Amino acid sequence: MSQRVIHVGIGVFGRRWCSEFLKSNVADGTIEVVALVDLDRDALEAGRQSLGLPAERCYTDAARAFDEVAADFCTVAVTPAHHEAIIDLALARGLDVLCEKPIADTMEATLRIARNVRRAGRKMAVTMSHRFDQDKTTLRRIVRSGVLGRINAIGMRFQGDMRQRMAWSSLFRHEMADPLLVEGAIHHLDIIGDLAGARCETLFATTWKPDWAEYRGDTDAIVTMAFANGVRAVYEGSVSHPVGLNTFYKEYIRVDGERGTAILAHRDVEVFMRQDIWRQQHREGRGQKVALLQQPKWINHWLIEQFARWRDGGPPMETRVEENVQASALVFAAIESSRCGAPVAVQRLVDAG
Ligand SMILES: NC(=O)c1ccc[n+]([C@@H]2O[C@H](COP(=O)([O-])OP(=O)(O)OC[C@H]3O[C@@H](n4cnc5c(N)ncnc54)[C@H](O)[C@@H]3O)[C@@H](O)[C@H]2O)c1
Repeated sequence: MSQRVIHVGIGVFGRRWCSEFLKSNVADGTIEVVALVDLDRDALEAGRQSLGLPAERCYTDAARAFDEVAADFCTVAVTPAHHEAIIDLALARGLDVLCEKPIADTMEATLRIARNVRRAGRKMAVTMSHRFDQDKTTLRRIVRSGVLGRINAIGMRFQGDMRQRMAWSSLFRHEMADPLLVEGAIHHLDIIGDLAGARCETLFATTWKPDWAEYRGDTDAIVTMAFANGVRAVYEGSVSHPVGLNTFYKEYIRVDGERGTAILAHRDVEVFMRQDIWRQQHREGRGQKVALLQQPKWINHWLIEQFARWRDGGPPMETRVEENVQASALVFAAIESSRCGAPVAVQRLVDAG
């Protein structure tokens, strides 16, 4: 039976939820959208039209929607600073929650949310869209297959040309502290942590904002990480890059193992396997191409379905809130490291919960 969903937040990305992610899951009977919520009436109208809801199922107040419309779970796509208020309301009404990343805009709120979900005995997961995209899932399958041998190091590059005001879609990113880390690198550090396959122990970061970036907070970062299983990683990120060499959905990731290397660049995946040849050399772009995995749903289309299956007794989601605090810990450890100029013990942030 399809599960009843109240969706909250129809801004720039919330419109995609309505016109794409929720819609595809309504179409195949996974869910039914029973109400929509946004403070902005124009946004509500856009969502209503995408999903064909009656006007009386559109609310400007989440508390009222939760009180008046029977539902199984809510989906949350408001700005990060407002996630906690919506999640608290949902938990108080006995709803499960599928929330946009990041869990919250501070580590304290992240840990509070995870604690409140546990105490309420509800399910909550986070839409780490990019980890569940087709290209990253293909790379992940290669790494998990063991073909590369033990993983030694990971390198990831994200370079977007979004330096002008409003170039990164919504105003809040230009006005917040640490837009790159909180809004962008949350995905990338999450992917690195997943590929590493262990908890991050130590992280050192430097973040900054070039003069030309029309943002209040830092748009650029270099982060180095050491994981509990010995994997080391380095992340370079920028949303003020001159030309956007590896922007969202086209990032560069290299995973180096004992026996081989896998590279994802601009959605192409290739592997290079070590041969027993004296001092061999290779060149990127000329490795063995790997066809991308095929399945009907990726990113949030797939995550909504995973959430519904989990609620229905299926396997727990990998991005359930108690696991996903690790991605937030990487972000907030990077912020702390950059401020204090020293390495940070990442699990100290998680243990504070
Ligand atoms: N997974 C991804 O790839 C991805 C991409 C973009 C954005 N996001 C996430 O989606 C979320 C929204 O981002 P956005 O770019 O759409 O932001 P946005 O500012 O464009 O939209 C936010 C919307 O939330 C509404 N809102 C705020 N507080 C509310 C409240 N209390 N009740 C009801 N509505 C409220 C606003 O009116 C606005 O329409 C963020 O968490 C962001 O990180 C994720």
